[in-house]
Amino acid sequence: MKLLMIGGGGREHALIRKLKESPRVETIYCAPGNGGISRDAQCVAISAMDIDSVVAFSKENQIDLVFVAPDDPLAAGMVDALEAAGIRAFGPSKLAAEIESSKVFSKNLMKKYGIPTARYEVFDAPETALSYILEQNAWPAVIKADGLALGKGVVIAQNEAEARDALHSMMEDKIFGESGSRVVVEEFLTGPEVSVLAFTDGETVRPMVSSMDHKRAYDGDKGPNTGGMGTISPNPYYTAEIAKRCMEEIFLPTVRAMQQEGRPFKGCLYFGLMLTPNGPKVIEYNSRFGDPETQVVLPRLKTPLIEIVEAVVNGTLAQQEIEWEDNACACVVMASGGYPKSYPKGLEITGLDDNGQIPGVTVYHAGTSYKDGKFFTAGGRVLGVTACGNTLAAALQKAYDGVHRIHFEGAHYRKDIGHK
Ligand code: AMP
Ligand code: GLY
Repeated sequence: MKLLMIGGGGREHALIRKLKESPRVETIYCAPGNGGISRDAQCVAISAMDIDSVVAFSKENQIDLVFVAPDDPLAAGMVDALEAAGIRAFGPSKLAAEIESSKVFSKNLMKKYGIPTARYEVFDAPETALSYILEQNAWPAVIKADGLALGKGVVIAQNEAEARDALHSMMEDKIFGESGSRVVVEEFLTGPEVSVLAFTDGETVRPMVSSMDHKRAYDGDKGPNTGGMGTISPNPYYTAEIAKRCMEEIFLPTVRAMQQEGRPFKGCLYFGLMLTPNGPKVIEYNSRFGDPETQVVLPRLKTPLIEIVEAVVNGTLAQQEIEWEDNACACVVMASGGYPKSYPKGLEITGLDDNGQIPGVTVYHAGTSYKDGKFFTAGGRVLGVTACGNTLAAALQKAYDGVHRIHFEGAHYRKDIGHK
């Protein structure tokens, strides 16, 4: 098979590594990829948002299957365009991807189908949003931009001034463009967070092993939100009993709801959950594999990924066997100094071999370039240093051993991944 991966981060690197394990996969192209990915796949200089070029490339090169990994091209309808051109694709249609690209859509869906989530109201003007927040007088207040906002569209406002500020910058200054034309104001929930990725072909849903992200930039969950500074799998809070409840109250009802709405979801559906004192609730849905959740979930998959991907695309997931290792996995993200704000690029990374790896651990490249046998930083999140072990402690030890052998100027990573 000839595959084309869309995207160029650590998630895509992990997907490519896993897909390559199958002898049936002959060639993998990646658009646009990155330095590390170029050691595992053939990178092509096409932007992940360039739908026309992706369709044209797939036709010219007789691609058997295109894997659309990031949220933006899914929300823009890349899968619809590929299918219209007769090319098989993994990922939801534009309509189904709205479960991530519109918080208003996803909140209304949950309300309509009784799926547990935080209480909320939708607003299209800052004044009415603010009066509602003041009326509720329950702090903190959670304010979310309706559309995609690079993971930065959620503000937890502690007081009136912060709420006013957030509404002003989203709705008037339009810092997220049209994504902030509408906002969701919702109840603040508490409890451990769990990420569950699930394969679904629109009818059957098969959850993967659970994981825990670390979204804040600094140790002790301090500092600004990031795309994710590290992950562990399994999530220690996610017991078998909670998993059963989530299947019955959240996963199945969501997949059925999407089907009823005429938007069957095919691909990977990501459930961002909070285990509240009143049971598990949905914080958010994503229409794709999580990053860096994928980096700790896929190494634990025993079944060839390509078989599951094809079962999703063909609508035969119910008959597909899916087996997992009974182990643990940890990923520590090494980021550029300054991330998630501004940071330098082009700094040399030392400690990696010519394939961008070190012995005993797997290094997924998120933001690197490659030239003449050397790797350089090229993004905010640079590397996801990942290891599996019989226990979480063993996996973490190995991953941190790896981190200590890699160097670049200003490298920043959290030292407390998995400590909670
Ligand atoms: P989201 O982008 O929707 O996942 O939100 C980013 C982060 O904000 C989540 O991972 C939570 O930590 C936090 N968050 C979002 N919604 C709520 C809520 N209703 N209550 C408490 N925390 C929340
Ligand atoms: N790690 C969170 C996300 O992929 O959205």
